[in-house]
Amino acid sequence: MAKSNLAVIVGSNRRDSINRKLAHALAKLGAGSFDANFPRIDDLPMFNQDLEGNLPAEVVRYKNELARADAVLIVTPEHDRSIPALLKNAVDWGARPYGKNSWVGKPAFITGTSPGAIGSALAQQHLRSVMTGLGMILLGGEAYVTFKPDLIDEHGNIGDESTKKFLVDFVDRFADLVSRLAPAAAQASAA
Ligand SMILES: Cc1cc2nc3c(=O)[nH]c(=O)nc-3n(C[C@H](O)[C@H](O)[C@H](O)COP(=O)(O)O)c2cc1C
Repeated sequence: MAKSNLAVIVGSNRRDSINRKLAHALAKLGAGSFDANFPRIDDLPMFNQDLEGNLPAEVVRYKNELARADAVLIVTPEHDRSIPALLKNAVDWGARPYGKNSWVGKPAFITGTSPGAIGSALAQQHLRSVMTGLGMILLGGEAYVTFKPDLIDEHGNIGDESTKKFLVDFVDRFADLVSRLAPAAAQASAA
């Protein structure tokens, strides 16, 4: 069966981002089901409604990447108990201009990591609320990952077996959700 096109959005622009490491590890776990692309969000201008009439080239590129995606994986840090500004900016550009919402109807898996005990839980909860409002179809369950220095090796493999099993379950359920929605998505794009 053909693989689904997965847009992986990382909510961090930090060079050694632990969320980017987790995102690559998840893409590796899902390689049998997904072709993963990593749309850039760190070069998007700060959202300004005045720019909507003549979208900047970076925004056009980004929205084309979202349009090509069958599914979206968002891996986010938590900043001050909420969604990082970088990611919220990318969410807003995806949602606009009015009538050109890139998120609606797409399946999404939201996860993230932090060194803290609750592993980005509050950022994820805020993001779930936002993305549900924008019409995404979210994978159920909660995947909060507490990051430890040896969690992911330099090849993108998750060393800890119980964390790996926990995440494989999410990736497999996400692949199942995306394949169930695929016929409906194909019909919608043909209409
Ligand atoms: C502005 C800022 C706010 C932060 N707020 C939180 C927070 O609310 N909860 C948390 O667990 N970690 C918080 N952290 C720590 C991040 O979890 C940590 O920097 C992590 O490495 C960020 O992920 P990244 O490496 O993918 O950028 C914060 C970090 C920064 C820079």
